[in-house]
Amino acid sequence: SPLSNDRDDSYGGSLENRARLLLDVVDAVRTEVSNDVPLLVRLSAVDWVEDGLTIDDTVQVVQWLRDHGVDLIDVSSGSNIPAEIPSGPGYQVAFAEAIRRRTGVPTAAVGLITEPFQAEHILVTEQADVVLVGRESLRNTDFPIYSAQILRHNNPPVPAQYHRAYR
Ligand SMILES: Cc1cc2nc3c(=O)[nH]c(=O)nc-3n(C[C@H](O)[C@H](O)[C@H](O)COP(=O)(O)O)c2cc1C
Repeated sequence: SPLSNDRDDSYGGSLENRARLLLDVVDAVRTEVSNDVPLLVRLSAVDWVEDGLTIDDTVQVVQWLRDHGVDLIDVSSGSNIPAEIPSGPGYQVAFAEAIRRRTGVPTAAVGLITEPFQAEHILVTEQADVVLVGRESLRNTDFPIYSAQILRHNNPPVPAQYHRAYR
């Protein structure tokens, strides 16, 4: 973010410089893990404040990440700078959608995704390739199994003990 990075060396200033550390880390990780292993990066897509990081900045960074071998972007937002965030169900999904549409890099959506059909809708309408569930998993640790039942998954990946409870 231009609002938190105040370096005046090659790791500060332009977007290219501010992205350098991340790209260096990605390169270092890639030298340690085989290309068969998916490499995922979590980004905060926007700062939600004027003069902060924008979705256009993040799209450019993801294009660089793609060229450095990153396979999927986990798309969050905010938290870096105090901001008024208009949070509501799926409030960050549009960023995941913009990034996958504009870069061709698969994305994961996260943020107030709490219902099975809400999650399925995000996937079916190709707004994201993966849905990540945070706090709802803390509230309801069986959320994946519950969702499989609600969505009538034919062959749920549940432990054998669950088969008799599964409808
Ligand atoms: C207990 C807790 C710890 C978290 N820790 C991190 C973290 O270390 N790094 C991060 O990027 N997000 C962290 N988050 C944010 C979550 O990854 C997620 O983006 C956020 O909770 C919104 O998704 P949700 O509405 O499904 O919970 C944390 C969230 C919770 C509730």
